This record gives sequence, structure tokens and C-alpha cells, in this order.
Amino acid sequence: MDKVFSLGGFLGCVCVCVCVCVCVCVYFVKSMSAQIYGAQYQIHTGLQHSIIRPTQPNCLPLDNATLPQKLKEVGYSTHMVGKWHLGFYRKECMPTRRGFDTFFGSLLGSGDYYTHYKCDSPGMCGYDLYENDNAAWDYDNGIYSTQMYTQRVQQILSSHDPTKPIFLYVAYQAVHSPLQAPGRYFEHYRSIININRRRYAAMLSCLDEAIHNVTLALKRYGFYNNSIIIYSSDNGGQPTAGGSNWPLRGSKGTYWEGGIRAVGFVHSPLLKNKGTVCKELVHITDWYPTLISLAEGQIDEDIQLDGYDIWETISEGLRSPRVDILHNIDPIYTKAKNGSWAAGYGIWNTAIQSAIRVQHWKLLTGNPGYSDWVPPQAFSNLGPNRWHNERITLSTGKSIWLFNITADPYERVDLSTRYPGIVKKLLRRLSQFNKTAVPVRYPPKDPRSNPRLNGGVWGPWYKEEHKKKKTNKTKADKKRKKSKARMRKQLTVHSSTKCHPSFCSGQER
Ligand SMILES: *[C@@H]1O[C@H](CO)[C@@H](O)[C@H](O)[C@H]1NC(C)=O
Ligand SMILES: *[C@@H]1O[C@H](CO)[C@@H](O)[C@H](O)[C@H]1NC(C)=O
Ligand SMILES: *[C@@H]1O[C@H](CO)[C@@H](O)[C@H](O)[C@H]1NC(C)=O
Ligand SMILES: *[C@@H]1O[C@H](CO)[C@@H](O)[C@H](O)[C@H]1NC(C)=O
Ligand SMILES: *[C@@H]1O[C@H](CO)[C@@H](O)[C@H](O)[C@H]1NC(C)=O
Ligand SMILES: *[C@@H]1O[C@H](CO)[C@@H](O)[C@H](O)[C@H]1NC(C)=O
Ligand SMILES: *[C@@H]1O[C@H](CO)[C@@H](O)[C@H](O)[C@H]1NC(C)=O
Repeated sequence: MDKVFSLGGFLGCVCVCVCVCVCVCVYFVKSMSAQIYGAQYQIHTGLQHSIIRPTQPNCLPLDNATLPQKLKEVGYSTHMVGKWHLGFYRKECMPTRRGFDTFFGSLLGSGDYYTHYKCDSPGMCGYDLYENDNAAWDYDNGIYSTQMYTQRVQQILSSHDPTKPIFLYVAYQAVHSPLQAPGRYFEHYRSIININRRRYAAMLSCLDEAIHNVTLALKRYGFYNNSIIIYSSDNGGQPTAGGSNWPLRGSKGTYWEGGIRAVGFVHSPLLKNKGTVCKELVHITDWYPTLISLAEGQIDEDIQLDGYDIWETISEGLRSPRVDILHNIDPIYTKAKNGSWAAGYGIWNTAIQSAIRVQHWKLLTGNPGYSDWVPPQAFSNLGPNRWHNERITLSTGKSIWLFNITADPYERVDLSTRYPGIVKKLLRRLSQFNKTAVPVRYPPKDPRSNPRLNGGVWGPWYKEEHKKKKTNKTKADKKRKKSKARMRKQLTVHSSTKCHPSFCSGQER
């Protein structure tokens, strides 16, 4: 195989595949893209809590080779278009330093689709569109990002020699909030009363069209015959922003299936079985070994990956080599009120938020977050409490759940008291995984991240000097002097960016 196209992004729930493809369910959790880049569970990168916030000095750890780095080793050109969101506080964290020859996109999530500005909080606002390592100011003239990114993909393909291998990672920001779409995509959705849902549908139509355009470009420029298109969502929908996971339980940001079971498809003339649905266990970490192996790259044998090569599962319908998935262990998330070691049979503290899947079984512990089943809001414009009549009260003091996910994907029948033996087995597995966890990296805000100190742009603010405070006195003194000089330089850049009220609304998690 010569070419790999990965259309990542922040899609809701679409499967536009028609014939030459396999539909797969892919499991994700927050911090998903970190898992693509290194085939490691979050507990192995320190990103097991929440997302990387704009003002945090944090990024995908630098000590492991990313997927594009591995593909470059075997001759691929690598290009990224769209949303990065894996940290940028140091230059070393930028996409161009993590394996991409070119980068056109945003460093953060949930910026404005037209202006490409992002406000993290009042007064913390900046431009967030990059061409490689520099702000792409030429594009702050209101081009809708789904169309703008598609044009860039067409441009990359038109100028690349189709006989040379290329890896293209396209992470559309659609269909994340803020809910924005060009007027003409609303045409078919006048009948949807709920305004958020209507906007979401319009955004998704535009995204479908984008994928169509990318596919046409692959054909037009001679790539299609020998390429693989992987299309995938990154996490479940957000019901308060037009999304729906119905009939699955929960929402984005939870470990209920509604938060982590995402749809995707693989489309390629190179697939052996086409037009099938794959029901095997597939996890986001699997793309790393799968794509490296398709590209005939090398994975060191002594490296412990959390992902599996699943190409034969997808292409030929073989059983997945995977029997379990650690959905996550988040030691920082709000503890379950009644959770305890006793409730976890002395094996596991059930106050801790975690979830694990082993074959048919799924176990959740801790505070599960939003736990309702939310039907689509297509027929109502009423407030959140009127969307549905099924509410789960979490005051029951429960801190452990067991489901046969194969039989009960909607997580309605908790079997934890019926099968204590299975519960213990899964708790032991969790405990084993926990022993391999690295400490959580979730540093406090750094005020130096303010785009005002960086020419009105979100971008690397951290200098190496700040990192080495604890060295020898004389050395440290010298370094402080240098860094002060640099701070002065930075501060002379204009600091005119004010947050326009309409940019200040988009929140994310
Ligand atoms: C990541 O880097 C660490 C430290 O260098 C190493 O021990 C580990 O094996 C690497 N893991 C992967 C998956 O490359
Ligand atoms: C797809 O291509 C058509 C025809 O060039 C264009 O009108 C449309 O805006 C494109 N859509 C997207 C989302 O890029
Ligand atoms: C791709 O395959 C089709 C069908 O076999 C063929 O007609 C076409 O010429 C091929 N294109 C390239 C660029 O190889
Ligand atoms: C997970 O590992 C950490 C660090 O070793 C330990 O402090 C913690 O108690 C473990 N958590 C559980 C629930 O076993
Ligand atoms: C809270 O946990 C204790 C100990 O596991 C248990 O005895 C008690 O029934 C729990 N409370 C509720 C409301 O479930
Ligand atoms: C779980 O569900 C699957 C599918 O319905 C079934 O084959 C299996 O026997 C179930 N396991 C148990 C222990 O009930
Ligand atoms: C500080 O620097 C001196 C001289 O360079 C060296 O001998 C000493 O070991 C250093 N101390 C520490 C704590 O690194």
C-alpha cells in the first residue's frame, strides 16, 4: 500500500459508505488523538484526565515516535489539515515537530468556524489558524473551516506526485460547537424544530460534501486506486449541542457507550471484503500498528503497544486480536460519593472513575458523570429537562456497574450483583493496568499563555529556561537573565486582541 488517508475529526454520527467499504465501531475516549499518535492508552501518556486546556503547559509526551514520524521513516510525505489539540506550549510540541511535513489548521478546539478565533475565558482570546509554525493571517477573512480545509486537501493532492506515498491527516473541526454552518446547508432541515439540532444537521451535510470532494480529488489526481480512506468520529455526541447518542446511554465525556462507541468506516479498493459491517472490538490505538504495518514500517519489538494490527479484521473479516480495552482510569475525576475499597472487594477503590471492557463484559466504577438516555431533539425546542422523560438519579450510592455489552449495548441491565465473580476478575484487570500507569499530567494554568503576550495568537509561549529552575544557582541566574530579555521582546509585540463577544461563547470539554 502506498497511500493512507485518514479523515479524523470531530464528527457526530455518519456513515456515508456505499459499497467499497467496511463499517466499524471504534472505541474512543477524551484525548483520543493522543492515542492515534502513539498507540498508547491515556494512562501511558499522562493524559488520562480531561483534555489539554489552552492555558496549560502540557502536550503529547515527546519521548515516543508518532504515527506520522514512523511513516516518514519509510518515505511518506506527511500532511496535517485541521484540529491538533495535543498541546503547543513549547515549539517541540507543534505538529511540524511531531512528524508532519506541513500543518494547516488550529492548535485548539471549538474556535469560531469563520474567524478562527478562540476565547478560553474573557480576556484570554487569540487567533488560532496556522500555516506550519506561523499564524495564517491570510485566512482570517471568514472562510468556513470545513470548506477551507477541503480546499487545502485538494491543493496538497494536486501538487503531490501520485506515485509517491503520502499520509494525510484531516481533522475537521465539524461538528463540534460552536454550531455554525453556511446558509445553504440548512435547506433540507427546515422541518427540524430544535435549532441546535437543525444547525448540527446542516454542519454534517457540509462535512459529507467535504468528504465527497476529498474523494473526488483522490480520483482526479490519481491516488484513489492505491489508497485507504479511514473515516472516524472521535467521541460520542454532546446532546446540549445538537448531538445524539440515542439509544446509547450517556454523552461525550463519559465512559457510557454513548460517550465512547463511535462510528467509522474504511473505504478502499484494496479491501478484500467490501460492503460489510465489522462488529469486532476495535480501538483507536489500533490504527498506529495497523497503518505502520500496511506501510511496511518498523515497530521495535521490545516496545509495548496498547494497539493491535487489525487490518485482517477489517479487510477479511477475521476475529479481532483484541480481547479487552481499557477505556480509562482517571484518578483526578470527581470521586464517587459512596465508592470505597470495600465496595471493590479490596481489589479496587470504586471511588475512582474507570471503565474496562473484556470480551462481552464491561465494568464501570466511580462517578459515571452524565448517565441519561437522551432521544434526538428533532421534534422539540424546549429546554433540556423536556427532551426526555428518562432520568437517572445518581443519589443511589452506586459506584460499580457490570453489563453484558453484547447483549445490552444500551447499558440498561446492571449485572454487578448477579456476577460478583466476573466483577472481581475485571477489578483485578483494572488493578493490573493501574500498576502500569504514569502520573497524570494536568498542570495549572500558566498566565504566560495569554495570546496578548504573543501577538494576539495562541502559540508556543514556554521557553526552555523556565523548565530548568532547579539547577545550580549560578546557572539558573544566567538563564533568568536571558529569559527576562526574551519576555521583554515578546511584550513589545502588539497586544491589541480584544475578545469580540461573539467569540467568547464556545466552551468545550
Ligand atoms: C515511549 O518512550 C518510553 C521512554 O523512552 C519508552 O520506555 C517506551 O517503550 C516508549 N513506548 C512506545 C510505545 O514507543
Ligand atoms: C465541494 O465542491 C463543490 C464544487 O466545487 C463546492 O461548491 C463545495 O463548496 C465544496 N464543498 C466543500 C464542503 O468543500
Ligand atoms: C484505477 O483503476 C481503474 C479501474 O481499474 C482504471 O480504469 C484507472 O485507469 C486506474 N487509475 C489509475 C490512476 O491507475
Ligand atoms: C492506582 O495506582 C496508584 C499509583 O500506584 C495508587 O496510588 C492507587 O491507589 C491505585 N488505585 C487503585 C484504585 O487501585
Ligand atoms: C454505600 O456503601 C456501603 C459499603 O459498600 C454499602 O453498605 C451501602 O449500602 C452503600 N450505600 C448505598 C446507598 O448504596
Ligand atoms: C452475553 O451476551 C451474549 C450475546 O447475547 C451471549 O452470547 C452471552 O452468553 C452473554 N453472556 C452471559 C454470561 O450471559
Ligand atoms: C553547582 O555547580 C558547581 C560548579 O559548577 C558544581 O560543583 C556543583 O555540583 C553544582 N551543584 C549542583 C546542586 O548541581
